[in-house]
Amino acid sequence: MKAFKTLGLLALALALTPATWALPKIKILATGGTIAGTQASPADAGYKPGTISVADLISSVPQLRNVAELSGEQVANIASQNMSHEIWLKLATRCNAVLADDDVDGVVITHGTDTMEETAYFLSLVVKSDKPIVLVGSMRPATAMGADGPINLYNAVALAAHPAAKGRGPLVLINDTIHYAREVQKTHTTRTDTFQSPNRGIAGIMNTGRVFFYSANTTRHTTRSEFSLYGLTVANLPRVEIVYSYVNFNGDTIDALVAKGVRGLVLAGVGDGNTSDAALAALARAAKAGVAVVRCSRTGSGIVDRNIEVNDDQLGFIAGLELSAPKARILLMLGLTQTNDLKKLQQYFSEY
Ligand code: DGL
Repeated sequence: MKAFKTLGLLALALALTPATWALPKIKILATGGTIAGTQASPADAGYKPGTISVADLISSVPQLRNVAELSGEQVANIASQNMSHEIWLKLATRCNAVLADDDVDGVVITHGTDTMEETAYFLSLVVKSDKPIVLVGSMRPATAMGADGPINLYNAVALAAHPAAKGRGPLVLINDTIHYAREVQKTHTTRTDTFQSPNRGIAGIMNTGRVFFYSANTTRHTTRSEFSLYGLTVANLPRVEIVYSYVNFNGDTIDALVAKGVRGLVLAGVGDGNTSDAALAALARAAKAGVAVVRCSRTGSGIVDRNIEVNDDQLGFIAGLELSAPKARILLMLGLTQTNDLKKLQQYFSEY
C-alpha cells in the first residue's frame, strides 16, 4: 500500500514539474524539399525531394520530444521549384488558422531551399500573428552521409519554441544560422552554408537548440503589414514577371510580356539596376502603358536607389531599394492589390 502511495505522489510531482507540462506546442506544416528527400543509395549524389512524410520526419529526430510537443500536417510534398501561388495561399491560410489557436505556440514549415526565401517573404506580408514561424530545409537528403536535415529540424523547433523568436516575422533556420525573411537569399547550389543575408546581416545563430539573436527586424511584417489574404485568390493575384538583363539584352521579352497583359515588371538589372538603352526604352513603353516597373539588381546585394544612372522620375519607374528581384515581385504583386499609385508603390519598398 505504501509503495502505491509513493508512486502516486511521484506521478503527481512529475505532472506538476515545469519540465513535463510546460513544453511549447509546435505545429509542423510540411511542404517537401530535400529535408524530406531520399536517395537511391547513400553514395549517390542524386536524390528525390519531397518523399518523406511529416510524421516520418518528426519520428526521425527523437530528441524533438525534449523541446516541444509536436503535431504535423502535410500541406504539400514537392520539390520547391514547383512551389505555386495556390500552395502559398493554402499554406498562409493554414498558418493563420493554426496560429490563431491559443493552444499553439509556433509553427515550423519544412520546405525546399530553392524557393524558401520567397515563401518566407510572402508569409511575412500576409500572415497575421506575432507567434514564431520558422522555415527550415536542408541541403542534403535525409539518407545522405552528413545529412543536415535532423539538426536543422531540431534547431527550427527549438527556435519556434523560444520566446525571443516572437514578433520578428517569419525566420529561416539552416546551418545553425537564423535569417529574417526579407534578408535571406540562397547563394550556392550545393553548400550547407548557402543561405546568406548580405544586406542587413543575419538575425542570429543557434547551437544545438540554444538561441542567440544579434539583431531586431525593423521592417514591417505580419501584424504590422497592411497586406492580407482577404479576398486574395490565385486568379486575382496581379501578374508580375521578372526580366533579366545581360549584354545585348534588347527588351523584346519586355514587349512580349506587356502584350500578354502583365500588371507589373521587375528588372533584375546589371549593377545598380541598369540595362541596355533598348531594354530601357521597352520598360519606358511598358510604364507609359500603365505597367508598374521596378528596377532591382542581379548582383545579389546592395541598394538600387532612385535616379542614380536611370531617371526614375522621368520614366515613371519604382526603385527596388534592397529587395532581390523575386522578393520585389512578391511585394509588387501584393502592392498592386492595394493601389496603382507610383508614389504609394515606391513607399512600400521603403517599408517592407
Ligand atoms: N529542388 C530543391 C527544392 O526542393 C532541393 C533543394 C533543397 O530542398 O534543399 O528546393
